[in-house]
Amino acid sequence: MEPITVLVHGALGKMGREITAAISRAPDLEVIGGVDIKATQNHLTLPGTSKKVPLSPELSSLLDTCHPQVLVDFTIAEASIAAARTAMSRGINIVIGTSGLSQDNLDEIHHLAKTNQVGAVVAPNFALGSVVLLHLAKIAAKFFDYAEIIELHHHEKADAPSGTALATAREMLKARGKPFVYPLTKKETLSGTRGGQVDGVAIHSVRLLGYMASQEVIFGAPGQTLILRHDTINRECYMPGVILAIKEVVKREGLVYGLDTLLNLR
Ligand SMILES: NC(=O)c1ccc[n+]([C@@H]2O[C@H](COP(=O)([O-])OP(=O)(O)OC[C@H]3O[C@@H](n4cnc5c(N)ncnc54)[C@H](O)[C@@H]3O)[C@@H](O)[C@H]2O)c1
Repeated sequence: MEPITVLVHGALGKMGREITAAISRAPDLEVIGGVDIKATQNHLTLPGTSKKVPLSPELSSLLDTCHPQVLVDFTIAEASIAAARTAMSRGINIVIGTSGLSQDNLDEIHHLAKTNQVGAVVAPNFALGSVVLLHLAKIAAKFFDYAEIIELHHHEKADAPSGTALATAREMLKARGKPFVYPLTKKETLSGTRGGQVDGVAIHSVRLLGYMASQEVIFGAPGQTLILRHDTINRECYMPGVILAIKEVVKREGLVYGLDTLLNLR
């Protein structure tokens, strides 16, 4: 079978480089080009090989010369939605991992994918373990009345709590259909020690040099606790999810949001 051809948008970024290397190792996928606004050379040497592919700061002309089957985008939100329009209008499938797309952006991507009869996968988290954790947390939420979330990230993370922690709490509440029980503390001697709270789920944010991204969900019931924990050690954790999305997107039409659908976890 011919390999699926891929062009990486954001090829010189941290995720773009990791993805280019992962695709280069995959026998059934092939990187045929890269685009990055920072590009100063006209070629990219694929990691672990001497093979060179075209590199450009400009997407549309490279799409027209390379004709990839899939555009993988890990850039910034504005560049991502513009790339989605450019690629899908040319009949090219897209896989997007870039953060910060709005609901309007997602609606537009769905519309463009349907109109142009291509597939689009947009996933806020390509780490399989994190997606499985959320699935398990939704199951556990039905059986435990108490739950708290501790999310642990590197010291430079700008926001707290993490979007993933908030989404986890909200999905747990949706699955359960009612708030968790929040034990009130009579006296909080240090303000903020009990964390933030979403309908009974306390959320605690750790910001520490050494962590990348971790999340722990602790469920409580009389005489027992259940702990679900996921640790991101490095960016390799995203690669199986990105590769799965590339292989699936070419078989689909319209938007698939979230890796859970591709893993049949819905
Ligand atoms: N979905 C997930 O699982 C997941 C995982 C990790 C990161 N991300 C997201 O992926 C995105 C990229 O992350 P990163 O760590 O690789 O960031 P990065 O800053 O290292 O890389 C982004 C790259 O995009 C390029 N870029 C920016 N604007 C561009 C444009 N207009 N045209 C072409 N290229 C452009 C930059 O030059 C840079 O090389 C972020 O939004 C991040 O939050 C998502």
